[in-house]
Amino acid sequence: MTQDAVDDDRGALDLLIRGFQVSRMLRLVADLGLADRIAKDGSCHVQDLADACAVLATPLLRVLRALAAFGVFRVGADGSVCHSPRSVLLRTDAPNSLHHGARFWTAPGSWKAWSALDVALTGDVPHQAAWNTGRFQYLREHPDEARNFDAFMANFPDQRHQAVATGYDFSGPTLITDVGGGNGEALRHILARFPGPRGLVFDRDEVVAAIPPEARSGGRIDVQGGSFFDHVPPGADIYLLIRVLHDWSDDDCVRILRNCRAALAAGARLLIVEQLLEPDPTLGRATDYLVDMQMMAMFGTARERTANEFKALLQASGLELARVISTRSPVAILEALRSADS
Ligand SMILES: C[S@@+](CC[C@H](N)C(=O)[O-])C[C@H]1O[C@@H](n2cnc3c(N)ncnc32)[C@H](O)[C@@H]1O
Repeated sequence: MTQDAVDDDRGALDLLIRGFQVSRMLRLVADLGLADRIAKDGSCHVQDLADACAVLATPLLRVLRALAAFGVFRVGADGSVCHSPRSVLLRTDAPNSLHHGARFWTAPGSWKAWSALDVALTGDVPHQAAWNTGRFQYLREHPDEARNFDAFMANFPDQRHQAVATGYDFSGPTLITDVGGGNGEALRHILARFPGPRGLVFDRDEVVAAIPPEARSGGRIDVQGGSFFDHVPPGADIYLLIRVLHDWSDDDCVRILRNCRAALAAGARLLIVEQLLEPDPTLGRATDYLVDMQMMAMFGTARERTANEFKALLQASGLELARVISTRSPVAILEALRSADS
């Protein structure tokens, strides 16, 4: 290996080691809504931005200058600030806006759990160690972070909601129930593409209560609060479980899947939508393993899984895997039916 190559690796590793500094600055500007304050093709003086945010111009300029060094915003010598191709993706009107992600990853709930990551190696749950409570209870007690989490899931940069709506034929069903459906983004995409079915978002009480009437696809989406550990509402032709199972241990997944099975009428289908973890990290996407680590930080034994691991969970729940459908997103659709022999 040449000295140049060693130096390149040293520089790359150094940036990874200091990555949290960039994440934290991105949350700071997202919390201020800075990207929305700068017109897409316009320019603002940092003093005007600081006044609008009720902060000091000098430290704000230093933050923006550091971000500009990473290609996020452009800062002129005269204190003018304008968008770069990256910073424009932080605007809330950008498709799949990264505004919510910038606010999510280093928000207090997640940030403090990551600081306790070590305890996962001795069998404890970092989030529990950091906050003395579980993740979803924490969100219940912190509505601002909870609603940003819902928006973050709806805008997660995997474009899975579009990919699911275009990657599966939803023209047949009359009712699609999205179990753990968050703020309803998946159903909105599906119903916009298929005029026939109605949708039901089933999620925790406070999550569905936060879905406003105007987000219910002209009245085609109903909502129901409850826990999938107690029951899953019967009567749908298709059930969706999108990025839900990765929040849970194998035992909890089987409990959720058995409740889905109990709701499935003959001929109804369950679509599990998850990224399938590539066992060889040299072949997988780095972000998939980061999501796996997020699951470890938040929930301990919850994790990303391979296709075979999902198949085993389905078998243990009286379900069988009918097919795996790749999508244009990193997620795949695992279509499951009731097992013939259960
Ligand atoms: C990772 S999010 C996925 C949201 C959505 N399916 C998506 O893909 O954007 C997991 C969802 O499970 C919901 N959830 C957690 N515990 C639940 C429970 N016991 N019963 C129903 N939903 C639950 C959360 O509120 C959250 O909306």
